[in-house]
Amino acid sequence: MSEYTTAHHRSVADPAAFWLDAAGAIDWVTPPTTAVDESRPPFYRWFPDGELNTSYNCVDRHVEAGHGNRAAIIHDSPVTGVKETITYAQLLARVEIFAGALAAEGVGRGDRVVIYMPMVPRAVVAMLACARLGAVHSVVFGGFAAPELAIRVDDARPKVIVTSHGGIEPTRTVPYFPMVSRALELAEHTPSSVIVAARAEQFPDETFPETPGTRWVDWDEAVSRAEPAAPVTVGAADPLYILYTSGTTGMPKGVVRDNGGHAVALAWSMWNIYGVHPGDVWWSASDVGWVVGHSYIVYAPLLVGATTILYEGKPVGTPDAGAFWRVASEHGAVALFTAPTAVRAIRKEDPHGVKVAEYDLSRMHTLFCAGERLDPDTYHWATDTLGMPVVDNWWQTETGWPIASNLRGLDPMPIKPGSPTVPVPGYDLRVLDGDGSALPAGREGNLAIRLPMAPGTLLGLWEDDERFVSSYMSAFDGYYSTGDGGYVDEDGYVYVMGRTDDVINVAGHRLSTGSMESVIATHPAVAEAAVIGVRDELKGQRPVGYVVLKAGEVRDPGELRAELVAMVREEIGAVATFRDCTVVQGLPKTRSGKILRKTMRQIADGQEEAPVPSTIEDPAVLDALRPHLRPQK
Ligand code: COA
Ligand code: AMP
Repeated sequence: MSEYTTAHHRSVADPAAFWLDAAGAIDWVTPPTTAVDESRPPFYRWFPDGELNTSYNCVDRHVEAGHGNRAAIIHDSPVTGVKETITYAQLLARVEIFAGALAAEGVGRGDRVVIYMPMVPRAVVAMLACARLGAVHSVVFGGFAAPELAIRVDDARPKVIVTSHGGIEPTRTVPYFPMVSRALELAEHTPSSVIVAARAEQFPDETFPETPGTRWVDWDEAVSRAEPAAPVTVGAADPLYILYTSGTTGMPKGVVRDNGGHAVALAWSMWNIYGVHPGDVWWSASDVGWVVGHSYIVYAPLLVGATTILYEGKPVGTPDAGAFWRVASEHGAVALFTAPTAVRAIRKEDPHGVKVAEYDLSRMHTLFCAGERLDPDTYHWATDTLGMPVVDNWWQTETGWPIASNLRGLDPMPIKPGSPTVPVPGYDLRVLDGDGSALPAGREGNLAIRLPMAPGTLLGLWEDDERFVSSYMSAFDGYYSTGDGGYVDEDGYVYVMGRTDDVINVAGHRLSTGSMESVIATHPAVAEAAVIGVRDELKGQRPVGYVVLKAGEVRDPGELRAELVAMVREEIGAVATFRDCTVVQGLPKTRSGKILRKTMRQIADGQEEAPVPSTIEDPAVLDALRPHLRPQK
């Protein structure tokens, strides 16, 4: 048996022994004696009697072990020209004093703090400071607009919001104050304060807005009055963070992560999956607003005492398609983790890899990709251009770390293009048909994970047990349903073919077509709307809308499109990249009124022969729509 097979078998046959061993990598206040509490399925709690502090494990313990001078964070920001290295000792000083500042604002164990920040070190400091107090952070990606921020504020009900003057995109600045003050206007909940990590140089004209019931405080001022705060001991199953992610409806799902299972799983993953040792420089080119950023910019590298690069820039345009290779080479990264869409963006501008040759990447051993399927074409280009393993890994906000990967530390395996390789230890992955029966190798079905899932996976949805059960646990008894379809081949390699629901993946960003539809449907001229994700060469998918006008409405299509695009941008944010919308006579539906989005998507993607459900109400509506779907290829 290979090392991988032995580890995976053991993790599934005897998860308690496997994960209690792995728990030895964490410094516990009270070491756990029990691996998992299974008394209330499908709610599982890892290390129920363990106690720890995640921030202590990410920062203090490395300083105490004599690594205070080691770089913890390298901030590289081509959009501002700033490069800064922060050692573990410096990070500790910043985290403990900011934790003190949060405590002075009334934040304590279990309280929520919303963090709406660009890619600056203070975003990481704020996350770790919350963890230090046993408070629960909820980071909101800077590309989301005020109404999305308001939804999260109302659901999480934070005591404090931590923000900044704004973000910097290559072609424009994105001021956050108008977003935060508008969100506070829209939200019913009123946080007591907003703490601002200033960027006065980039935003010289912004002043703190007036918001009833909420004080605006400058970060430096708050810190100047504060006392350093000690780490607060929490239960392993206490929440560390809430991260909202798109579901099929407009209301995002508040995925809750624990402290203990998360720390154990992420620490285990750094070597076993990513082949990263303490002291290595590691780079995850994502954003702290996404799960990849939470796990692999912040927590995992710091848990193991590695150096993490915090990059505030893009793969192209800051300044060119050599940006990733410049950063990896300049800081000596041993591995880079990015989304395939970023690789495609680089390839588009530098098809022959001329820029790669300009930099010394000899210290880099692997390029990791996740966030969407690594298509074989992109895989081959990257492998040939970089001359190193290019490793796909499949996971989701809910799992927090990979479900399937090629385990570079544990047991590197041959790579098959198009497959993220094999299920990671801790995940008992099955392919099920609609009735929940297991499918044989090679047959495509629903990818489901037998319960309990590995440590580090979601505890539940924030204050919504019902939605947790109905979203993930009710389709197949005893399984977590991933929402992805795919198959496993004869060699046990997993192939993930795409979502089985109406969630789409645009440039590695998970978005809900349902939320875009509900925005468009509020336009006074629109009777009904459907948004589907169609294939896009660069971004993987892009949203395209189809609207039916109310009887008697006559609109200029260009003007209407501009209005609808502006509405989606205003309500959801630029990140939705909603740019196409067509007026049609009707939308194809089943007899029970459900819009046939999947059939529409298949036709738009060129599958002309895609089967049309026999429940279709009026096939003529679909035939009339076909010409509008086809040009979207
Ligand atoms: N704050 C505010 N706005 C943001 C933002 C942020 N943090 N991130 C993106 N946006 C805006 C962009 O400015 C753009 O606005 P525009 O419509 O005015 O141009 C819009 O959102 C879409 O952005 P993006 O998807 O980044 O498209 P792009 O065309 O600017 O760049 C790529 C294309 C491929 C370079 C880019 O999508 C990319 O780097 N993707 C990788 C994504 C990734 O790492 N995902 C993490 C999952 S692992
Ligand atoms: P998110 O929760 O934003 O990380 O998005 C998770 C979804 O992205 C998954 O359910 C998949 O549909 C898709 N995804 C992420 N990584 C991969 C991958 N390596 N291969 C295929 N799909 C992926």
